[in-house]
Amino acid sequence: MDIKGQAALVTGGASGLGEATARELARLGAKVAVLDVNVALAEKVAADIGGVACQCDITNTDSVLAALAKATAVHGPARILMNIAGIGTAKRVVGRDGAPAPLEDFSRVINVNLIGSYNISRLFAAECVKLSPLEDGERGVMMFTASVAAFDGQVGQQAYSASKGGLVGMTLPMARDLAQHGIRVCTVAPGLFATPLMKELPEAVQASLAASIPFPSRLGKPEEFAQLACHIVTNGHLNGEVIRLDGALRMAPR
Ligand SMILES: NC(=O)c1ccc[n+]([C@@H]2O[C@H](COP(=O)([O-])OP(=O)(O)OC[C@H]3O[C@@H](n4cnc5c(N)ncnc54)[C@H](O)[C@@H]3O)[C@@H](O)[C@H]2O)c1
Repeated sequence: MDIKGQAALVTGGASGLGEATARELARLGAKVAVLDVNVALAEKVAADIGGVACQCDITNTDSVLAALAKATAVHGPARILMNIAGIGTAKRVVGRDGAPAPLEDFSRVINVNLIGSYNISRLFAAECVKLSPLEDGERGVMMFTASVAAFDGQVGQQAYSASKGGLVGMTLPMARDLAQHGIRVCTVAPGLFATPLMKELPEAVQASLAASIPFPSRLGKPEEFAQLACHIVTNGHLNGEVIRLDGALRMAPR
């Protein structure tokens, strides 16, 4: 799909990988809606790229519907959905004090990363199937953001890895479901990227993380993630696939 002129929705677009993707989509001529719980940051990014900010909690259906309605009113119906919003946590199953991990911590991460991504995707898809197909029969494309933790999760990463593994598992059946409507579905599994969260770590920790990446031995740049996200949109034969973007990193147990 040619990105130019299309309306695109970017969840988590206020920060990090989502922000970089929103900026790259806009640079390539898309009309971008920045969907985020952090509306102040979303407004900043949207203002910068001539897009629209939509307050959105992907776990809340009313909130998603309101965001989709606002984005559609400003830009027209979207054919591109970039699911990038996500949260992390680290908790051992049994803590050092012998107590079991709180179930709420596990549920919260699954709820945002997996159920939230599914929630907005189903609502987006229901609108997208109504659009007329483009030249090659394509109606839309959506991307999920997993993580290498879906495959090599570290100590304490049960919730995060399970949530991202859920996205990996969902990719092919979602692509198969939506194939009849001409909507493609792909997932990117990033390694270690230099986003605000990572930049808060002490430099020595950042350096040691970077050193664990075979090549290039540096953190990924958010722009590199954004490039792949946009390539997924433009390459019409990419579908039902999960792509690792990690410099050949395989995470160690800790
Ligand atoms: N940075 C990395 O190294 C890395 C590696 C692998 C995977 N990822 C994944 O990439 C995605 C982006 O990560 P990032 O590092 O850019 O993080 P980030 O914290 O910079 O950005 C995430 C954004 O998602 C938003 N968000 C959180 N919960 C939301 C909700 N319920 N509804 C709407 N928006 C919500 C936040 O407000 C924030 O703006 C996440 O899904 C993360 O798990 C990141």
